[in-house]
Amino acid sequence: MIGILAGKSALVTGGASGIGRAAALAMAREGARVAVSDLTEDGAATTVALINAAGGKAIAIGANVSIEADVAAMVGRSVAAFGRLDCAFNNAGVSTRNVGAAGQRTHEMSQDSFDAMLAVNLTGVFLCMKYEIVQMLDQGGGSIVNTASVAGLVGLPMASSYVAAKHGVVGITKTAAMEYAKDKIRVNCVNPGYIKTPMTAAAMALRFDELMTKVPMSRLGTPDEIAEAVVWMLSDRASFMTGASQVIDGGYYAA
Ligand SMILES: NC(=O)c1ccc[n+]([C@@H]2O[C@H](COP(=O)([O-])OP(=O)(O)OC[C@H]3O[C@@H](n4cnc5c(N)ncnc54)[C@H](O)[C@@H]3O)[C@@H](O)[C@H]2O)c1
Repeated sequence: MIGILAGKSALVTGGASGIGRAAALAMAREGARVAVSDLTEDGAATTVALINAAGGKAIAIGANVSIEADVAAMVGRSVAAFGRLDCAFNNAGVSTRNVGAAGQRTHEMSQDSFDAMLAVNLTGVFLCMKYEIVQMLDQGGGSIVNTASVAGLVGLPMASSYVAAKHGVVGITKTAAMEYAKDKIRVNCVNPGYIKTPMTAAAMALRFDELMTKVPMSRLGTPDEIAEAVVWMLSDRASFMTGASQVIDGGYYAA
């Protein structure tokens, strides 16, 4: 069976875990060659091993998306390995917990923690797009999906910096979609609700029942349920979709 990404070359950031790993596996299953990137090459290598074991083709790249030189090298290695870059999933991200701001209201957050959040969750997406788009312009097109969140569309108490970064991702997605539409580069974002990954494990252990009252389906989503949509959005089947925020959240945003 021919997959919907057959013949495509893809890049995933945050590919060692959660949504990024599920997306990398789904892309490979749909026929793409996949550059799997994460903070360390070792982390990405586990995902690559899973892809290779299933008969796919992948390479592992270590890169910190908040460091421009890392991102430039990451895109360069990906193109060197596979010849072009058709599909990019800019997904690496951190939570308030990772930057020492869990449970803090806006006035309680330090500037350092706010900056650390934006460095990964917003500047990281900007840097990835910057280098991916240069390659896509050069080759005559491509498709980008950025990971935002429902927190890119609504407020979320105790998560000011995360919400600011994810609203920023929605904004840069819309703007780039307009800027590059005539260059045949589509740019969209996916807006997951609560998904079962290491990022949400601690919060769910503490507040699962309370958080689920806000979700009409009353459950967490799985990384695979995000990956399915991302693969489709990256594929040529989504040829008229650009600048969109695709919510996948068990009804959270609709409620
Ligand atoms: N899990 C959820 O409920 C949920 C909901 C909405 C949006 N998201 C977003 O989905 C994306 C993936 O999150 P996840 O839930 O799979 O979390 P996760 O913690 O399982 O995976 C995140 C990955 O990003 C990597 N990463 C972190 N900082 C990095 C950096 N500076 N450079 C490169 N890689 C880095 C981590 O090493 C990790 O492998 C994030 O952008 C997150 O904000 C998650």
